[in-house]
Amino acid sequence: MATQASADFGLIGLGVMGSNLALNVADHGFRVALWDRRPEHGQEFVRRHGPARLEYHAELRDFVAALKPPRRILIMITAGPAVDEVLEALAPLCAAGDVLIDGGNTWHEDTLRREQRLRARGLSFFGMGVSGGEEGARRGPSLMPGGDPQGYRSLAPVLEAIAARTADGPCVTHVGPGGAGHYVKMVHNGIEYADMQAIAEAYDLLHRGLGLDNGRLAATFGAWNQGPLESFLIEITAKIFAVREPDGGALIDRVLDKAGQKGTGKWTLQAALDLGVAMPSIAAALDARVLSSQHALRQRFAAGRPAATPPRLPVSVQDVHDALLLSKAAAYAQGFELLARASSEYRWNLQLSELARIWKGGCIIRARFLDEIRRAYVEQPALEHLALAPHFRGLLSAHLATLGRVVAAAAQAGIPVPAFAASHQTLLALLSPRLPQNLVQAQRDAFGAHTFQRATAPDGPFEHYDWLGSGARA
Ligand code: 6PG
Repeated sequence: MATQASADFGLIGLGVMGSNLALNVADHGFRVALWDRRPEHGQEFVRRHGPARLEYHAELRDFVAALKPPRRILIMITAGPAVDEVLEALAPLCAAGDVLIDGGNTWHEDTLRREQRLRARGLSFFGMGVSGGEEGARRGPSLMPGGDPQGYRSLAPVLEAIAARTADGPCVTHVGPGGAGHYVKMVHNGIEYADMQAIAEAYDLLHRGLGLDNGRLAATFGAWNQGPLESFLIEITAKIFAVREPDGGALIDRVLDKAGQKGTGKWTLQAALDLGVAMPSIAAALDARVLSSQHALRQRFAAGRPAATPPRLPVSVQDVHDALLLSKAAAYAQGFELLARASSEYRWNLQLSELARIWKGGCIIRARFLDEIRRAYVEQPALEHLALAPHFRGLLSAHLATLGRVVAAAAQAGIPVPAFAASHQTLLALLSPRLPQNLVQAQRDAFGAHTFQRATAPDGPFEHYDWLGSGARA
């Protein structure tokens, strides 16, 4: 018997994110058809959550036939070759106008390749960033879909219904074409890395440098969450310090100091290198994870050296707060600079104010601070750098010296603060009308005749000089 097309939305992949998104879509009045390669898992899922708005189909053909055209199908499986396999199986069953969405953390060039291939077959393909983890998927994520405008019109009613909401609307927007959605999600994650690392450095300074115990750390981060640092990451940090095991010990003290990563931070840096954008805060955060993961090596270096208690830092809790705020601003500025560059390079026409708006709710980097970023880009859509906007100029003049003092004090005390230091150095370089790269240019010209320009004519001609008197000519 032919399956009747009665479902409004299709979802493939009942892992943690897929299951929660399916329930979220169903909660909003849409009937959801499901497919997962594990039939028992799919059937059990429908049994557990009720068949009123969910239906599982063991055969992909039946799953597709169950969807009302034009079909909307969200694929929530691990990024990589499995996505190609599913698309290959799915595409012949679909019809022109159907919209397929990959909601995983996929490399944007893979998304572009798939979009072009499926477009040639009359299908619309979206790469969509989904942020907010398990809870976000269930109650309202931030969604970053990239694809064609017509496909977006078909997706919008569902995506706007399931996304997180703030006073400024649903946390979803049509990001741009092709790989734009996945690119934006990748940069979100790069910023997430830097934000998390800077918070970890603040923790180290407060704990080892100023002697705050877990109770006071919970209270301090809780208080910080009432001010300009208010954000999801600060909120969960306060909660983490309060978690105790049954014997009364703080769980945070028992967690191995070895950070993992799944690759989106690394991709952000690779993408930035490709476009010639400097992202020192994000690079420092990634390197800090790599160094932390060399746990055994670090223990070997420490062996035989007396465990040194860092001297009390000559800075206040407020100084650490201000240093964290500016360090965070530097990281977000780097992320937005990459987005601006990618937008012009790939002709995506990204609306940076809209991206700040949809990151205000649902996602991991949601923060009060994004209101200021949004305002900056609403006022000046083509703003060259966030540090030029009035609010950020204010942060710079108020806190740059403090950030420098905190970095110097940490260095003196032997506490590594790579993200704070990278942010500080980046800001110093940006604010320096004169850098020592005149010498780098002279060296390049001296050994390789790579030429240089005169300081008196920044747009003037390139020339070569025989610095070493060797008589060699360019
Ligand atoms: C999100 C998260 C999510 C994932 C991170 C973790 O926005 O919901 O960013 O995508 O939890 O990618 O990444 P790492 O394992 O690399 O820290």
